[in-house]
Amino acid sequence: MASRFDSLIQRTIPAFRNKRMTLGTSSVGFVPTMGALHEGHLSLVREAREKNDIVVSSIFVNPTQFGPSEDFDKYPQQLQEDARMLEELGVDIIFAPNKDEMYTDNHTTKVMPEIFETTAEGKSRPGFFTGVATVVTKLLNVVQPTNAYFGQKDAVQCCVIRRIVEDLNIPTNVVIMPTVRESDGLAMSSRNAYLMPEERLIAPVVFKSLLAGEQAWLDNDKQASAEEIVAEVQKVLNQEPMVNEVQYVSVDSNINMLPIDSVGPEGCCLSLALKCGEVRLIDNIVFGAIR
Ligand code: PAF
Repeated sequence: MASRFDSLIQRTIPAFRNKRMTLGTSSVGFVPTMGALHEGHLSLVREAREKNDIVVSSIFVNPTQFGPSEDFDKYPQQLQEDARMLEELGVDIIFAPNKDEMYTDNHTTKVMPEIFETTAEGKSRPGFFTGVATVVTKLLNVVQPTNAYFGQKDAVQCCVIRRIVEDLNIPTNVVIMPTVRESDGLAMSSRNAYLMPEERLIAPVVFKSLLAGEQAWLDNDKQASAEEIVAEVQKVLNQEPMVNEVQYVSVDSNINMLPIDSVGPEGCCLSLALKCGEVRLIDNIVFGAIR
């Protein structure tokens, strides 16, 4: 069915490239997404709009970054509504390919950022970062942006993307933007839509527990072992019975997201993943001098 966004949305790589060519050789800001857009995505688009001549956003629910028991089939899809929001913010092209356009029957190549599969998030979602690295590499090759924008909410993903761009000599500048939160502290995520009302009410405990971890470090003159920080986070989470599975609480170097045993003034990235009811939530905060 025809829609008013037909000329904005490009479904194939050749169609995208043709449209891109008509816009000339100016700087391109790129915001890759899986759709179901929220204020977190829109903050990336606004930054891209401000800093570049042309803005491209992609909407592609990438099957290779979902595990067999994950939510690929029910991932929220609302292309027309997303297109309306992106048009309003002045996006020039939406690249929204289908699965066969991105992964032909002959597709075999994977980008494996091996070390990140060993992070706490990587171990929780085997194959996830290979799926992300592969699709982001492909999208950067298609769009060839000057600047690409990602949210700090997915802390390991940010490190993975910085690594692939450097390792594979991709001529794109990676820009990481702060996590956008609801007024009660819950990090914005497309998956928050899965939360039942009673789960949504207690979900801010995620951010609250991370802040308690930071406080333990602050209270001890910016020195704490990872174990002490994790214990403070757990203490807060233990008070909430609707948190039914803490998958990890991890204290990592903010530079490469690999685990560290103790945190001094240089700080760290403190991250966690848990299940609130059936919904998996992740969040992180970065504190200390190295940001
Ligand atoms: O962060 C996301 O939404 C996805 O992981 C990304 C970067 C669009 C790749 O599919």
